[in-house]
Amino acid sequence: MRIAVVNLKGGVGKTTTAVHLATGLAYIGATLLVDADPQGSASRWAQLAEELPCRTVTWPNADLGKRLTELQGTSEHVVIDTPPGHVDIVSAAVSTVDTVIIPVEPLAMDLDRLNPTIELMARVAAANDPDVYVLLTRVRARTRGSKSARELLESLDLPVLQTEIPLLEAYGWGYGMVPPQGHRYGQLLDELLAGKGIEV
Ligand SMILES: Nc1ncnc2c1ncn2[C@@H]1O[C@H](COP(=O)(O)OP(=O)(O)OP(=O)(O)O)[C@@H](O)[C@H]1O
Ligand SMILES: [Mg+2]
Repeated sequence: MRIAVVNLKGGVGKTTTAVHLATGLAYIGATLLVDADPQGSASRWAQLAEELPCRTVTWPNADLGKRLTELQGTSEHVVIDTPPGHVDIVSAAVSTVDTVIIPVEPLAMDLDRLNPTIELMARVAAANDPDVYVLLTRVRARTRGSKSARELLESLDLPVLQTEIPLLEAYGWGYGMVPPQGHRYGQLLDELLAGKGIEV
C-alpha cells in the first residue's frame, strides 16, 4: 500500500497517524516512512524511538515522486507524512499514492477548514485516482462531535473511515516511542487492508 497522510491544516494528527500506520505496516512487509514535512517531526520521532521497524527518509520537497520511483521495489509499503500548507509537496505526495488519509478533528472549525484540502484532492488526484478517506481523530469521548462530523462529511460524499482515533494522553506522550501494536491504529490498518482486499 502507498498512503499519503494529508491535511493542509496543521496540528490535526497527520504525523501521529503516519508513524503509527508505518509501524503497523512494517510488521507485515518492508515499509518506508517518508517525512515530507520541512518541520521534520516524523524523522525526529524515528530518531528518538531508535528502533522503529520501518525505514525512514526525509524528503521535504516536491520531487518525492521521482525519489520513490528510484527506490521502487525496495519496500512493499510506503507512508508519506506531509506538511500543512505546502501545496506543492502535498500535491506531489497525493499524486504518487493509492490511498489518501485526511485526519480531521470533529470540530466545526476543523471541518470548515477542510475545503482547501478537498479542492487540492479534486485538482491533483484525477490522474492516479487514489482512494480518499477522512479519518476522525482526536475524538472526545462522550460527545456528539464525531456523529455530527460523520453526518456532515457523508452529506458531502466524503468517505469516512469506520475506525475513529480517540483523544488520549497516550497518543500525545507516545511521541518519540515505538507505537504499540494493535489498539485503534491497528484497527485502522485492518480496515484499510480489508478495503484493498489485502489478507494478512
Ligand atoms: N489521538 C490523539 N490524542 C491526543 N493527542 C493527539 C492525538 N493525535 C495527535 N495528538 C497530539 O496532537 C498534536 C498534533 O498532532 P500531530 O503532530 O500528529 O499533527 P500534525 O497534523 O502532524 O501537525 P503538523 O501539521 O504541525 O505537522 C501533537 O501534540 C500530538 O501528540
Ligand atoms: Mg506533522
